[in-house]
Amino acid sequence: MSKTPPLLRVRGLHRRFGDLDVITGLDLEVEAGRALAITGPNGSGKSTALRCIAGADEPTDGTIELDGAALDERSAVVRRDLAVVMDDMSFFPDLSVVEHLDLLARAHSIEDVESVVDAVLTDVGLLAQAGQLPGTLSSGQRRRLALATAFVRPRRLLILDEPEQRLDAGGLAWLADRLNAEKRQGLGILLVSHDTSLVEAVADDVLALEGR
Ligand SMILES: Nc1ncnc2c1ncn2[C@@H]1O[C@H](COP(=O)(O)OP(=O)(O)OP(=O)(O)O)[C@@H](O)[C@H]1O
Ligand SMILES: [Mg+2]
Repeated sequence: MSKTPPLLRVRGLHRRFGDLDVITGLDLEVEAGRALAITGPNGSGKSTALRCIAGADEPTDGTIELDGAALDERSAVVRRDLAVVMDDMSFFPDLSVVEHLDLLARAHSIEDVESVVDAVLTDVGLLAQAGQLPGTLSSGQRRRLALATAFVRPRRLLILDEPEQRLDAGGLAWLADRLNAEKRQGLGILLVSHDTSLVEAVADDVLALEGR
């Protein structure tokens, strides 16, 4: 009998920009209920790898599989399983915090939208800012909104690029707890982080990319 394939499997990922080989032959796996952290110096290709896996960039070569099936960015069913928070999330300037989360939850046919959005707003500490527009948020609050977008939608794999950015000490502790809770729910997590305490608290495996 063949072994069940992992939630995410990446084989031979390669990304070249012009003459620059940013990623050469990257292999990784993320099992359900486990977290893999990618670390490495600035420019080592971490965000590029996540963008390729999340479907925001096209690999030069390599395969990306979810449950053993090629991850096709055009398939809404497959994309539904991925909750992605990149490091440069942008928001609609004229929709409030709560309207962003409400919109996402409804678009993903979440049941009981109001209570889910309310719980996530409380969890990320943005209840008092629910009515504010993104442009009026502090940078840490904007980061919390970006993280909140991942938690109001269906997900089986979290893809997070430096989720710790801009968070205060309380926010960092919350983030580690929340990610560990997500793992206990059976989610897989692929995160890039420069924060060694977050990596130690959350990651089951670490993949260190080398600078060039
Ligand atoms: N679209 C692009 N065109 C040309 N070069 C690019 C492009 N995107 C990324 N690069 C280059 O690829 C390399 C890796 O970039 P990437 O953003 O993946 O690094 P990173 O490991 O995420 O770094 P950081 O820790 O600073 O976030 C860098 O040298 C960057 O300049
Ligand atoms: Mg990066």
